[in-house]
Amino acid sequence: MTTIDETTPLHLRGNGRPVHVEHTIGDLRVTGSIPRELDGRYVRNGANPLSGLSAHPFFGDGMVHGVRLRDGEAEWYRNRYVRTPFIADPSVDILDPSVMMDMTASKANTHVVGHAGRILALEEGHFPYVLDGDLETVGPLDFGGALAGSFTAHPKICPVTGELLAFGYSVLEPYLRYLRVSAAGELVQTENITVGGPTMMHDFNVTRDHVVFMDLPAVFDMEMAMRGEMPIHWDDDYAARLGVMPRHGTDADVRWFDINPCYVFHPMNAYEDGSDIVIDVARLSHVWRDSMMDFPSPELWRWTIDTVGGTVREEQIDDRPAEFPRVPDALVGLKHRYGYMMGIPENATYDDPKGQSGTILKYDRDRGTSTELALGRGRIPGEPVFVPAANGAAEDDGYLMTYVYDADSDASSLEVFDAATMDSSPIASVELPRVPFGFHGSWISASVAN
Ligand SMILES: [Fe+2]
Repeated sequence: MTTIDETTPLHLRGNGRPVHVEHTIGDLRVTGSIPRELDGRYVRNGANPLSGLSAHPFFGDGMVHGVRLRDGEAEWYRNRYVRTPFIADPSVDILDPSVMMDMTASKANTHVVGHAGRILALEEGHFPYVLDGDLETVGPLDFGGALAGSFTAHPKICPVTGELLAFGYSVLEPYLRYLRVSAAGELVQTENITVGGPTMMHDFNVTRDHVVFMDLPAVFDMEMAMRGEMPIHWDDDYAARLGVMPRHGTDADVRWFDINPCYVFHPMNAYEDGSDIVIDVARLSHVWRDSMMDFPSPELWRWTIDTVGGTVREEQIDDRPAEFPRVPDALVGLKHRYGYMMGIPENATYDDPKGQSGTILKYDRDRGTSTELALGRGRIPGEPVFVPAANGAAEDDGYLMTYVYDADSDASSLEVFDAATMDSSPIASVELPRVPFGFHGSWISASVAN
């Protein structure tokens, strides 16, 4: 057990406490009924420091939590550390510059996706890690030696071509590389992209024909790195820009569009509307200006890039804080009507989960309305992942899956909600041990990875 005292960082309190046991549980109690059509795994990644301590919420060791659903049953729950060099040797220091440049030295703690028969645990500074269907680590992936640097935690799987579109950033030149992985899982294109400096580019956008880079003022500082600090800070002198490039394009094809300074960890989705490119994003006014815990509240905004006029219209959609935006996987890069986000409770803190009431937000971007699914006091969700219903007709005909932490019982559940009705009573609820708050996950259907 980790002892919590006044020296414990906030992110390791409450349901930020890491767990220390890797469970395999087969006899799971289910309330409600799991739709029989759901055949696959819901897997979510997060930072869970092996030592019990991490200096920053982003530094913990990657631990995936998965539930296998099949034939209307919850077959198992497993949580597993991703076996990175940090697990083999806990004395390895993530902020040691030589470790930062070792592309296998990933924390592998940010996202998990299924592509080309592989399950990939991802963290943006290093190589992906391949997991097997039981969430055991196979090893780092460099695409047969083709990957020369880091690989984002937020690649996009094109629902039309099956390609995995990605990028990698670096503190050294080239600062940015575009990476295109074929539907068969081969890295087929690497393009060095010219940007103004080394920035932390957490995510990006794809449309049917383009990718859009977000070159924003969270800039690397080697002096901070040499001092052993988190080596990124906000820079008022670094211009915020969006870079639009054809998906098969090169550096020379990138067109840059100025926007107001801001930071975006996560776009909801992007799509083409004639000669415009529309992007819905969870926008922060800035990040890391005062300290590495300086995270203003993200709110939903829309950017509309006029690719003919060369301008970007920026509109705030909502003033409620919310993060982890998602659309159906089948609409990534295509026009979406609905998007889902995790609401951020007022006065959200790891310290007092019983004092918070979690919500999931559903935005109707055609009508400009939103619906709130309220989980109640002391119940806090994570990122809502949309899973389509079999033979669904409407865009929102499907399920929202997320782990929900219940502060009263200090335990968690996998909740399956009806995305169309946003009824707060779940269709199915699978009882689990406590799953600490984490980052991103996916529904990985058995057709992708069995
Ligand atoms: Fe992320």
